Amino acid sequence: MKFWIISIFIYKLVIADPVPIVLWHGMGDTCCVSVSLGSFKLFLEKNIPGVYVNSLRVGNNTIEDLENGYFMSPNQQIEYVCNLLASDLKLRNGFNAIGFSQGSQFLRGVVQRCGHQLPPIKNLITLGGQHQGVYGLPHCGALQHESCDYVRKLLNYAAYYKWVQKALVQATYWHDPLDEETYKKGSQFLADINNERVINKTYINNLNKLEHFVMIKFDGDSIVQPRGTEWFGFYKPGQAKVMQSLQESALYVKDRLGLKKMDKAGKLVFLSQPGDHLRFSQDWFIKNIINVYLDPKK
Ligand SMILES: *[C@@H]1O[C@H](CO)[C@@H](O)[C@H](O)[C@H]1NC(C)=O
Ligand SMILES: *[C@@H]1O[C@H](CO)[C@@H](O)[C@H](O)[C@H]1NC(C)=O
Repeated sequence: MKFWIISIFIYKLVIADPVPIVLWHGMGDTCCVSVSLGSFKLFLEKNIPGVYVNSLRVGNNTIEDLENGYFMSPNQQIEYVCNLLASDLKLRNGFNAIGFSQGSQFLRGVVQRCGHQLPPIKNLITLGGQHQGVYGLPHCGALQHESCDYVRKLLNYAAYYKWVQKALVQATYWHDPLDEETYKKGSQFLADINNERVINKTYINNLNKLEHFVMIKFDGDSIVQPRGTEWFGFYKPGQAKVMQSLQESALYVKDRLGLKKMDKAGKLVFLSQPGDHLRFSQDWFIKNIINVYLDPKK
């Protein structure tokens, strides 16, 4: 009898449970419906036996979760999620985080703003995230239509009005490359977490505690414009045609967010997939993400 108890104890010590995973869905999606993140959660559970997955629901129910993706300020959403994660005892030994689309920059916000109050966040993996914001409307990128350029110029006039920033989530990561100064002053979410106004050392320290920050870009993305934002790139300031990479940007060169330091330490990982927004095969995900970051083979 004693032998068995000791054996089970040793077994528990040696074969540790897999690292839990937190998911944050994108705009127009929710935590749990079976056609999207619900089935992705099942996919993770099947391929990492015993893993605990917390797919974040921002709101008291799924409908609120959907609405909040459009109308609840990201700053409030992040605070709400910081509290959810702090009270989830199953995460107490640390976890990995996966963001989908706008959930990517929101999870990065969580890491930066409350990482020091949470168990260790090991790897942050972002799929089609908008780390430098967006300048364009869904599907406009692929269509290359003239009216798209007209509409985005029009949106420029209103995006940074305080009431629009408060009323519409997507305005808080609208990034107008033609007027960087107004963006830096007016963007209540993105310009702050990207340390565009002041340098917040807590953000730098928290981000640097990650083991890896993996960014996945979709080369055929018709939703996110410009696609380079998924790798933390953006238009060169002052125009909206020529792109610059993260490494070419002032943010990196002056290292306002500690990304240069992370890059030199091999913590930044840039991956891409050929398809449209969030399109990837399960095999690719198993080989490149699960086996490498979520459940590495010892
Ligand atoms: C949860 O419900 C309460 C009461 O209706 C509401 O005030 C609150 O905003 C809801 N929470 C979220 C995150 O939507
Ligand atoms: C920096 O970020 C921390 C954590 O979110 C916050 O408490 C603090 O007020 C911020 N400082 C500045 C100067 O914005």
